[in-house]
Amino acid sequence: MNQQYSAMRSNVSMLGKLLGDTIKEALGEDILDKVESIRKLSKSSRAGNEVQRQKLLMTLQNLSNDELLPVARAFNQFLNLTNVAEQYHSISPHGEAASNPVALKNLFSRLKDKNFTNGDIHKAVEQLSIELVLTAHPTEIARRTLIHKLVEVNTCLSQLDHDDIADYERNNIMRRLRQLVAQSWHTDEIRKIRPTPIDEAKWGFAVVENSLWEGVPAFLREFNEQLEESVGIMLPVEANPIRFTSWMGGDRDGNPNVTAEVTRHALLLSRWKAADLFLKDIQILVSELSMTEATPELRALAGGDEVDEPYRQIAKNLRGQLYSTLEYLEARVKGEQVLPPADLLTDNAQLWDPLYACYQSLTACGMTIIANGQLLDTLRRIRSFGLQLVRIDVRQESTRHTEALSELTQYLGLGDYAAWSEDEKQEFLLTELQSRRPLTPRNWQPSPETEEVFETCRVIAESKNDSVAAYVISMAKVPSDVLAVKLLLKEAGACIRLPVAPLFETLEDLNNAESVMKKLLSIEWYRELIDSRQMVMIGYSDSAKDAGVMAASWAQYRAQDALIKLCDKEGVTLTLFHGRGGTIGRGGAPAHSALLSQPPGSLKGGLRVTEQGEMIRFKFGLPQVAISSLALYASAILEANLLPPPEPKQEWKSVMDSLSEVSCDMYRDYVREQPDFVPYFRAATPELELAKLPLGSRPAKRRPTGGVETLRAIPWIFAWTQNRLMLPAWLGAGAALKHVIGKEGKQAVLDEMWQQWPFFNTRIAMLEMVYAKADLWLAEYYDHRLVEERLWPLGLKLREQLSEDIKSVLAVSKDEALMADLPWIAESIALRNVYTDPLNVLQAELLHRSRQQEQADPRVEQALMVTIAGVAAGMRNTG
Ligand code: PGA
Repeated sequence: MNQQYSAMRSNVSMLGKLLGDTIKEALGEDILDKVESIRKLSKSSRAGNEVQRQKLLMTLQNLSNDELLPVARAFNQFLNLTNVAEQYHSISPHGEAASNPVALKNLFSRLKDKNFTNGDIHKAVEQLSIELVLTAHPTEIARRTLIHKLVEVNTCLSQLDHDDIADYERNNIMRRLRQLVAQSWHTDEIRKIRPTPIDEAKWGFAVVENSLWEGVPAFLREFNEQLEESVGIMLPVEANPIRFTSWMGGDRDGNPNVTAEVTRHALLLSRWKAADLFLKDIQILVSELSMTEATPELRALAGGDEVDEPYRQIAKNLRGQLYSTLEYLEARVKGEQVLPPADLLTDNAQLWDPLYACYQSLTACGMTIIANGQLLDTLRRIRSFGLQLVRIDVRQESTRHTEALSELTQYLGLGDYAAWSEDEKQEFLLTELQSRRPLTPRNWQPSPETEEVFETCRVIAESKNDSVAAYVISMAKVPSDVLAVKLLLKEAGACIRLPVAPLFETLEDLNNAESVMKKLLSIEWYRELIDSRQMVMIGYSDSAKDAGVMAASWAQYRAQDALIKLCDKEGVTLTLFHGRGGTIGRGGAPAHSALLSQPPGSLKGGLRVTEQGEMIRFKFGLPQVAISSLALYASAILEANLLPPPEPKQEWKSVMDSLSEVSCDMYRDYVREQPDFVPYFRAATPELELAKLPLGSRPAKRRPTGGVETLRAIPWIFAWTQNRLMLPAWLGAGAALKHVIGKEGKQAVLDEMWQQWPFFNTRIAMLEMVYAKADLWLAEYYDHRLVEERLWPLGLKLREQLSEDIKSVLAVSKDEALMADLPWIAESIALRNVYTDPLNVLQAELLHRSRQQEQADPRVEQALMVTIAGVAAGMRNTG
């Protein structure tokens, strides 16, 4: 690893040393020695020493039940500390952060080189829109209390990162670090109880409070500076390029714990938190804005000439309103029935108008420097967060709507909606949507499931303006799925103009997306209703689970491309909503590559994308990290809009069609057809044990009965990540490449695609990343320890396939070794392997012991959970 990383390496070893001291103090020298000898064995094993590898396996197999937990915890905690050091490196002024603002600056100068005028850039900036949707997806394994401690460790690292720090200060910081490491060691790292959806919603609010509240205005300030310096334009005060939406408390797809009541409560809590945060902002303005000079308009607004300090007066008035708003919302959160106060703040304009008037007056009176301080930050927060803090999306599965309508039509004696043809459904829905009378009888008592669907729509009807951002329909297949939701909204008295987004998430549904939308847009009534704006969600993980990564990513690309062209033709503004997970198997990729690999034109309607679990922590968990992630997003979107990736040639598309077909056949043959596959999956991975981890409020399966097909994409990927076979993220892809090279003679076309087409190049880069994280000897070890011998040949075949695939992919990228062009990531994975390997071996051992024992030994169970957390920390993601 080169010189640039030496500061990071010394942080890693310093934290490792502190952890070692803590362990020694807590458990004695013997345990520490054991951990240290395991680490050394692991290191030589990684270096290829077979004898030492065998010794490592023996040592771990022979650990007594009492030793298991401390050893697992030591490696897990070390990996968590390594992650902090890496994260700090990414924001340290002496590390990666030094190059952060340069990303935007470089982009602007590249644009100028390509003869873009300031006007072109200005227009693109005006259209910039980033909407990040924080989901409650159960992929964050670390407990909040530990995350909090890790954030504090990060703060200490940044305090230490100064050359002129005095000795006594350094001693203080080191003492604090020792405390934090000890606190973590003495804290249980595994949650005991499942969080409720409200806990999850609160977790989302905490991300806003602890990071984004600070990070968003700070990023906009930096963005503005870059714009002024490079392009000579300013970001208008009222610009609103970044917004946040949450699925926490709103996403009920397959999660019976998210009820209408929960959504109602989450909406209230969100308003309460916003009032609380704005109150803190306004307090600062009350103390800062003591200026006396003001425009006559502002004076009038503040109550006339006799008011000495008009800005302060205005801030005080708002403070009063925020107090009573907060008091009212607090009572409502507690369930009390109280009347809203006369000065309740419900509309962002109530905050914006007076504060913007202050801003204008300050600038008019020569105090721009003051206007552009705290006041501007608050104005930006009103635009980005507003009185709602985050908006909520509601998501529900299409069949739930069909069932609800079916129950209703049967009650009314109209027949069974579910049994009607698609044309009949559409006709019925359109008639009812245009009818003036309601369809639902007042005295009707539907089943609890149907009642829940209706009640959710009633919550939307009651919600304050704009606080529900969209209604997403998972597993959407046909136009009537969208119309059905519109009718349910109408029946509940909600605004039927609420964006209703079909989520296409199987291979077949992605392939049909264009024709479904074409049909919908051809309905005149619908066209008028949506006012030429349509949101469509693309499901990355479920399609990959359905068809394998290669076929799914091509289907996602084609669906997006077709929808963009369709909407262009129809004059409809399309917002593509990307349901990407954090891991590659669920569509994850670094922001820049992910955005540039989308079809040209895909970001014209702005970016709307999900952010999930541990990725929220890695990308937005600290203000500095949030600034850098937002800068990455902003520059990638501007780049994609101004310098769009090329339209693929027909020949490239045909190659992709072949790749897709061959890979999908192979993937499905294993996953669906081979009878041994599911038993193998269950035995070789901790799939069943994972369900015991109380990660989130949502069950691991859509339906409690049923096999792998009902398993959600997250645990599916999670399980294969743990045993390091990473199967869903590669199966089929390499074999398909080999096929088009060997059988179809397309090496030259692939070379061209790799060089010229970001979509394809990213696919190859992501495969390399997956291969680098996969591990053959570990996967083999899991097989031998856990799988019945009869199934070993299947595992062997898969591993052979993986080795073969690596060669095929390297033949395309012309690299000698995996990730040759991303040496830092390759290095980071290699560094972690020394710590992750013992956790993997231990996990296989613990799964073995746990599956053998009749009565669960809590030490074994606990240590097993810790190894799961540790491997996730080592891989930097879960599922
Ligand atoms: P979903 O998302 O199962 O909630 O659709 C899966 C994922 O994000 O991987």
